[in-house]
Amino acid sequence: MIVKHLYEAAHALPERVADSGILGRLGLRAPEFEARIQEAMGRVEQLLHQCAHSAPDPRISLLTGHLAAAGGKRLRPLLVLLGAEFGEPERDGVVQAGVIAELVHVASLYHDDVMDAAAVRHGVPSVNARWGEKAAVLGGDWLLARAAQLAAALGPDAVHLNAQTAGRLVSGQLRELCGPGPGPGEDPVEHYFRVCEGKTAALLSMSLGIGALQAVAPAHHVSALAEYGEQLGIAFQIADDLLDLAAPQHSTGKEQGNDLLAGVPSLPVLLALAGDDPRDAELRDLLSAGAAAGPAAHRRALELFRRSPAPARAEALMHDRLERARTALEVLPALPARRALAALCGFVAQRTA
Ligand code: FPP
Ligand code: MG
Repeated sequence: MIVKHLYEAAHALPERVADSGILGRLGLRAPEFEARIQEAMGRVEQLLHQCAHSAPDPRISLLTGHLAAAGGKRLRPLLVLLGAEFGEPERDGVVQAGVIAELVHVASLYHDDVMDAAAVRHGVPSVNARWGEKAAVLGGDWLLARAAQLAAALGPDAVHLNAQTAGRLVSGQLRELCGPGPGPGEDPVEHYFRVCEGKTAALLSMSLGIGALQAVAPAHHVSALAEYGEQLGIAFQIADDLLDLAAPQHSTGKEQGNDLLAGVPSLPVLLALAGDDPRDAELRDLLSAGAAAGPAAHRRALELFRRSPAPARAEALMHDRLERARTALEVLPALPARRALAALCGFVAQRTA
């Protein structure tokens, strides 16, 4: 079940319900492990709802509980629980750590949807669409405060990790907002990686680290898991970028080439813009013109793009990150959780294959 859960996370599917098909195929054969994770995920879910809906006024509770109730893949709590497997997973504080990771994630989505003026999240109206931007910002702040309160009950390490991660998330988002600077040394591809580290990698890394810490795992296991999370987070983001260009059978339900049309500086786009091959000159002109160039130019850009070396280069960079993630796992004992984490790398790679 757990591996199907990972599979779904990697494929950005909305369901949280898992079945045992993939598990059988991977041959993990670890029913005790699966049952323990499944049971703990249930407890995370219960506490998450309690926390998200615990505002003093029921009208506010409706707002703060809105996204957690709407769904989500719960990838971060799952990583917390997998991290805890390298210590004593039944220890007090592991489930709370899973809730902290999800609360921070949900809080960041409240704010992100305001920034992107997004109308829909998890298939329901976004908080900003339903209650307005001011309420959405405050709702996100409230969830962040709730996460801080849970962390305070776990002790200084959890408080530190929680604060550091929130700071990294905000820095990543601010970097994205500002874009790369004009000066020397402000390489757009480097800037892309800094943004990913903050926006995506920081919380995945924190999830594994806080789970392992709460389970009192050995320090070198905690740092290996945190490093795995960093690398996986960046690979995830690159895979997302590549999916935007993927062939129809790999489509996630979104229109293809959306990033290209919207002028989103995804990694393949940045690599294409950075190249100097004269054969790519037309593509660079179209990319620079962005959405203003119109639908015909968009189709032409997508066609040229698929023939350019940029997507393959981005894919190679994704594989490099996945390899780094797998390498980080090498110091860990050969537990089912380690196999599950390695399998997650495989699934990220398969998304774009
Ligand atoms: C989604 O990006 C955004 C994030 C993963 C991070 C958002 C972070 C902030 C808004 C900073 C504030 C943080 C806290 C902790 C309150 P996206 O827009 O590329 O992806 P999407 O398609 O899911 O919207
Ligand atoms: Mg967004």
